[in-house]
Amino acid sequence: MDTYVIIKHLHSGFRYIVFLLVLVAIIQSLLGWLGRKPYTETNRKLNLFALISAHTQLLIGVVLLFVSPLVQFNSSTMSNSVTRYFSVEHWVGMVIAIVLITIGHSKSKKITLPESRHRTIAIFYTIAFIVIVGTIMAGHLPVLGSQS
Ligand code: HEM
Repeated sequence: MDTYVIIKHLHSGFRYIVFLLVLVAIIQSLLGWLGRKPYTETNRKLNLFALISAHTQLLIGVVLLFVSPLVQFNSSTMSNSVTRYFSVEHWVGMVIAIVLITIGHSKSKKITLPESRHRTIAIFYTIAFIVIVGTIMAGHLPVLGSQS
């Protein structure tokens, strides 16, 4: 197995960790916001782990940009839907989602009211999750599972 295939599988598999942590963060923040619960150390850690997983996926993705044969910049890149998706659309969509998670997390740190803290995480992480799933679907990739 060459480096490209290993990194591609790593990136593909790591999505489940991102999905799981972001979803757990969303659920706990919704429960905390709507149930007016305190913002606990567990809440803080899970929100942070979700952020770290998204940043890790970003790093693996950046490596893929350099090794994937589907990422290419030539005269036919934009006319082929697969190369256009992986060379432009995929990473732009994912970077937007990761920026939203980062902004939400950093905003929540500056808030003292527990309810608003939960609300900020709930809103930013939920929009980011929708952008992630939407971006995968836009490339006609299976949200769960792999093409090959
Ligand atoms: C939460 C963020 C992300 C998720 C959930 C995600 C998910 C995926 C998935 C499911 C695939 C298809 C893998 C397969 O065919 O088995 C893929 C491919 C790819 N991703 Fe991401 N990705 C994310 C972020 C990024 C970022 C930020 C970049 C670039 C900076 C990136 C670059 C790539 C590239 C280049 C491929 C093509 C791999 C190939 O050659 O088939 N991804 N990604």
